[in-house]
Amino acid sequence: MSKKKTGSIETNSLFEVAGVAAPATEIGEDEKPSFETTTLWDYPRQSYGKTPKGDNKFQGVTPAFLIWNLVQRYTEPGDLVVDPMAGSGTTIDVCKEEGRKVIGYDLTPQHPEVTQNDARHIPLPDESVDLVFIDSPYGDNVSYSDHPDCIGRISCEDERFYLELEKVALETYRILKPGKVMGWLIGDQWVKKKFTPVGFKLYERLAKYLDTVDVVCVARRGQSSHTGVWHYRAKKFNFYLRGFKYLLIMRKPVSSASKKTATKVKWAKYK
Ligand SMILES: C[S@@+](CC[C@H](N)C(=O)[O-])C[C@H]1O[C@@H](n2cnc3c(N)ncnc32)[C@H](O)[C@@H]1O
Repeated sequence: MSKKKTGSIETNSLFEVAGVAAPATEIGEDEKPSFETTTLWDYPRQSYGKTPKGDNKFQGVTPAFLIWNLVQRYTEPGDLVVDPMAGSGTTIDVCKEEGRKVIGYDLTPQHPEVTQNDARHIPLPDESVDLVFIDSPYGDNVSYSDHPDCIGRISCEDERFYLELEKVALETYRILKPGKVMGWLIGDQWVKKKFTPVGFKLYERLAKYLDTVDVVCVARRGQSSHTGVWHYRAKKFNFYLRGFKYLLIMRKPVSSASKKTATKVKWAKYK
């Protein structure tokens, strides 16, 4: 079972703090999340609807509304969605309710339908998947497990962290059908007076293989650091608490030439 590491002020989950009440929601039990039309996503709860999606006590659980939005935008009923780091299975629960096929893997599964597997070797054929969603570790700020292969045991200040995530990115690239999309949720780190731009560093790696569709800013809610004492420290010691995560939305090029074409800027257009 995951637990927050002491000494770190930033955690993965938006809603992980037991006993901290989530803000009131306007979403009724039978309703779906709203279809997002801007690049700022802010949601007061981890889940929606009558049935739970993932386990909101799992530290690092993904907001279900976010996966719902990717599924609505980039897949059709019957399409195959894969989450290589599925944890407590939020992707599985969302996709099943939306009539999508879904496979979730994790090194240490926390959901009965998640299969044990290392994300650096995904047991699926090339170009067989319609959408990949990943909410990876953001460094070693959360202790997911003692498994020696857990990427969450490597500090985001260490280049090895990005090398291992790049292996996951390459597998994602391999299994995605050409033209299909991947969403990767990632957050930056500020620990012990040091900022690490984890999102930018991961983006650099992903952009080697995938075209950028867009970057969404997802508000971090219910953080353990969003308390009076941490706001006081942030003012007194002149630093910022993390307020958002990046959702990097990227597409596998249709052909190897198309990535080059996509990055060519036609300046004449702007004259
Ligand atoms: C942020 S959590 C995922 C949360 C999940 N989306 C959910 O809603 O419950 C990150 C996950 O990455 C997993 N992980 C770390 N290293 C891994 C690896 N090498 N292969 C597969 N999963 C890994 C951890 O076990 C953890 O469950």
